[in-house]
Amino acid sequence: MQSSVPQAKFAFSRPGLLTFKIEGQTMVAAEALPRCPFIRSFGWSGEMISGTLDEVAPKLESYRKQHRAGYLHVWERDSKRVGDRGFEPFAKPEWEAWGAKLLALGGPDWAGVAVNRSVPSGEKVLDLIQVDQDRWLLGFHVAASTASSWVGGAPPVTSAKVISRAYYKIKEAMLWSELPVQSGQHALELGAAPGGACQYMLEQGLQVIGVDPAEMSPEILSHPKFEHWRMRASDIRKRRLGRVDWLVCDSNVAPQHTLDTVEGITTNQHVQCRGIILTLKMPDWKLAEHLPSYLQRVKSWGFSFVTSRHLAFNRQEICVVASRSLA
Ligand SMILES: C[S@@+](CC[C@H](N)C(=O)[O-])C[C@H]1O[C@@H](n2cnc3c(N)ncnc32)[C@H](O)[C@@H]1O
Repeated sequence: MQSSVPQAKFAFSRPGLLTFKIEGQTMVAAEALPRCPFIRSFGWSGEMISGTLDEVAPKLESYRKQHRAGYLHVWERDSKRVGDRGFEPFAKPEWEAWGAKLLALGGPDWAGVAVNRSVPSGEKVLDLIQVDQDRWLLGFHVAASTASSWVGGAPPVTSAKVISRAYYKIKEAMLWSELPVQSGQHALELGAAPGGACQYMLEQGLQVIGVDPAEMSPEILSHPKFEHWRMRASDIRKRRLGRVDWLVCDSNVAPQHTLDTVEGITTNQHVQCRGIILTLKMPDWKLAEHLPSYLQRVKSWGFSFVTSRHLAFNRQEICVVASRSLA
């Protein structure tokens, strides 16, 4: 982050929430920040407030007078690493209740302000972020992308009966990237077991091939639109892939290995897939320094649109999405 905005200096920070002081060219920062794949949500921070919601309300009132906005997002920084001890970055029901309480305290002037709703592009949003118990950060941002229209930059995904966490990851990847995935198309997943991502893709009406030497969940195996190729990705016969529209890879191998395997498939003469969704595992976060070269390599396979994001549901891994054309 600091290399993309060299004049940014660390200010108040907690795990999952960083603030920076930026001297001078704030517009440069405003353009650079959304391109950093590790920033889930960003905005301009106003003031830190200590106290209960009743004490926060008057500050919010005066802040809104300066920054008239039709939307209020109330959320909190992740309390744990996602996937640890059952923690997932779902919206909590109390966030909306807190917002409704603040609106009620604000009186008639707040009528029409929407709390914790997705925001149309270009609209200003007030953010009230719970940093710690009784400590809040007040700020605002302007919705400029799909993810910045979501509360706290996390997708509107709720808890479901899933075969694995990969269900949430692929759902977020598809919502965020807006790939034009349509029912009836064909998907191939490398590293598919036990089958959370296949579960989501089957729910979307896709025809799915899961490649994995490990066992798939019986629920997925018995689905009429699913086929299990019980093998390593390197053993696939490429001429069988002519109908694949979307290639998904979630194998737990090093990024270089994932890229070698996927390159072998997507550049094969028999394969014409429209796009790919890769999970690059980062056994060491230092590998993230190579992300620009990884993206460049994916681009060289004939994908004109390549982007990456550390998804809200990602653990120590990064999601890369590529497509032949911008839908
Ligand atoms: C994180 S799990 C995948 C979770 C899965 N996507 C889901 O939705 O439940 C990683 C999987 O990669 C598989 N894997 C590792 N190396 C592989 C390879 N060379 N080819 C295919 N699968 C591989 C492992 O067997 C393991 O099941």
